[in-house]
Amino acid sequence: MNAPHLHTYSTPQAGSAAVAAELRAMVARQPQAVVGLPTGGTPQALYAEMVRLAREEAVDWTSLVGFNLDEYWPIDAAHPASFRTFMRQQLVEPAGCDAARFHIPSGEVQRSEIEAHLGEYQQAIRQAGGLQLQLLGIGLNGHIGFNEPGSAADSEARLVELAAVTRERARDQFGGSPVPTHGITLGIADILRAQRIIVMAFGAEKSSVVHSAIEGEVSDACPASLLRHHANVTWVLDTPAASELSLMS
Ligand code: GLP
Repeated sequence: MNAPHLHTYSTPQAGSAAVAAELRAMVARQPQAVVGLPTGGTPQALYAEMVRLAREEAVDWTSLVGFNLDEYWPIDAAHPASFRTFMRQQLVEPAGCDAARFHIPSGEVQRSEIEAHLGEYQQAIRQAGGLQLQLLGIGLNGHIGFNEPGSAADSEARLVELAAVTRERARDQFGGSPVPTHGITLGIADILRAQRIIVMAFGAEKSSVVHSAIEGEVSDACPASLLRHHANVTWVLDTPAASELSLMS
């Protein structure tokens, strides 16, 4: 098993700015860099910083290629709580990215088409040369993407049933209408194929799961612990999220 790099910052903004600076350096070297992207509350400060860099420091993200991790299923692309809407609003439009280069699994496909759709999605990642960097958040139950507890290290892109805690957390975004029972997600194996992985976790509510993922048993009970199968993982934490680690950086 591999020990990850741990970087702890005083605020989520400081950690997010460090990740944004890495992305800026990546596109400076290679404008068409290929990055895997999460949604949720965690990456919002990162995406806001990428927008600021575009507007105030003329950083050009137009050639950046993005592949999102997951989407609810079923869901209309235009639904206000879809991850497609989230990406368009938080990053793609305000940062001046090219929407045609930003990919996200479709929550609109029929159940019988999901397997083929996700196979094509994996193929598109391979054709782009694979993910150079996978950015991740972590769920309170240790999920990454929609890989809920019980997801195996060799799991591929697939339809999954969402955990109760995941649906509960999403309730506000759905404003009273029911949260979908399922999601479609890249698997743990897809995530582990990335050349490099950065996991972001902020706030005291994540301290326990961060501890389990980094210092607990490597087990599918905490899917993020399976990242220790990868040799190049960096955790970007704020001080509260790092507070239960015995080896604080
Ligand atoms: C969501 C997403 C994950 C995300 C996680 C954490 O359900 N599918 O990709 O990392 O849950 O969410 P948050 O950042 O809001 O805590």
